[in-house]
Amino acid sequence: MNAASAGHRVTTRHAQAIYPFMASGGLGGRGTYIGRDANGGAFCFDPWVLYDDGVLDDPNAIVIGKLGQGKSALVKTLLWRMLLFGRRAFVLDVKREYGALCASVGVKPVSLTPGGGVRLNPLSARPEEHAQIELLRAIATTALGEALNQVESSVLREALRTVRARETEPTLPLITAVMFNPSAEMAARLQTSQEQLAADGRRAALALQDLCEGPLKGLFDGPTSPGIDLDSRLLVLDLHAVRDSPAVGILMACATAWMSAQFARMAGRPGRERLINVADESWKIIQHGGLGEWFQSNFKLARQFGVMNLVVLHKLGDLQAAGDAGSRAARIAEGLIADASTRVIYHQDESQVGATRELLGLSETEAQLLTELRPGQALWRVGSRSFIVQHQRSRIEHALTDTDTGMRINAR
Ligand SMILES: Nc1ncnc2c1ncn2[C@@H]1O[C@H](COP(=O)(O)OP(=O)(O)OP(=O)(O)O)[C@@H](O)[C@H]1O
Ligand SMILES: [Mg+2]
Repeated sequence: MNAASAGHRVTTRHAQAIYPFMASGGLGGRGTYIGRDANGGAFCFDPWVLYDDGVLDDPNAIVIGKLGQGKSALVKTLLWRMLLFGRRAFVLDVKREYGALCASVGVKPVSLTPGGGVRLNPLSARPEEHAQIELLRAIATTALGEALNQVESSVLREALRTVRARETEPTLPLITAVMFNPSAEMAARLQTSQEQLAADGRRAALALQDLCEGPLKGLFDGPTSPGIDLDSRLLVLDLHAVRDSPAVGILMACATAWMSAQFARMAGRPGRERLINVADESWKIIQHGGLGEWFQSNFKLARQFGVMNLVVLHKLGDLQAAGDAGSRAARIAEGLIADASTRVIYHQDESQVGATRELLGLSETEAQLLTELRPGQALWRVGSRSFIVQHQRSRIEHALTDTDTGMRINAR
């Protein structure tokens, strides 16, 4: 062999250090079909199978990439394909773009808009008294914007108990009314007078009243609107209209309760149900109180309950921008990344590559590739293995995932 044409001979094990995708051999055929890997083979993915096989430490995934690269399209097709296999999914939809998927699955997104006619009773997410107390306290904390004191916590508990004894379904206005006018029994249970009790609970009662009668009127102030099925196999919570309001915090408290109800149900049927919990474009709302913690606890619970958490972001800087470096949000962000063994990285601008590489622990070759990826193409880091995958969509899925309509010249 002459020197000019001589290649460099190494074992594939060593060559992978330079080009990690050459001999990865796919992840096997079990799981949901995603597309083609760099070798032309079918690339399938199932976090639960890979977890059982020891490839993944957890079922969580983070999808990042620049605008318009097909991140949401991947998530929608993944859900569409997984739902066919009996999986369930819960989606926080900030851009109002999961409607087509819902229509194909035969469900309606739950669209929260002040004055929009859809009402959710946050307390109905869990019927048990202890769960409702926790939920009520979380809602009051969000509504107040600061922690409850011990007296307020107790007043809330007793107000809920009183309403539960009187009514079939506790609602926030019923509880507020009882807090303003506590009964003699409530006062006796808390070893105080009715007047003192009303004064003690006044701050929390005013916050709940404002939630029911202020700008978010109509969203949380009564029984859940008929026709809303919180147990459907695909539950999409459309947060578009409320994305900048404190409603997000309340919804997250409800979502947490809903999720824990799902967990309790799933725990009773191990192995049968799998839940995919999606937050698309969540960075926009992560600064709202409670959301980061919500992600954090879900990521931690993923293994225990078999939930795949899927978080979509533009760039990792988004997470850090959600709070000053070193602050609560940034720490949460780093924790989420550490708890997501699957990272799907779409095209990144040169300026982002350094931060992405550092945070995700990519090799130099992997990092360099990020600026060359085309739409629909991503670097998949699955545990310690890497793949370049071209996501493929069927004709039906095209219709479910096309977000370019607003850009077309003759778009109606
Ligand atoms: N697998 C794919 N191959 C080629 N093009 C794709 C693919 N998936 C999506 N696209 C195209 O990219 C467009 C944008 O897709 P999508 O909305 O999923 O991107 P995104 O990364 O979520 O964007 P954003 O950051 O704005 O939310 C789609 O309308 C579609 O035309
Ligand atoms: Mg998107």
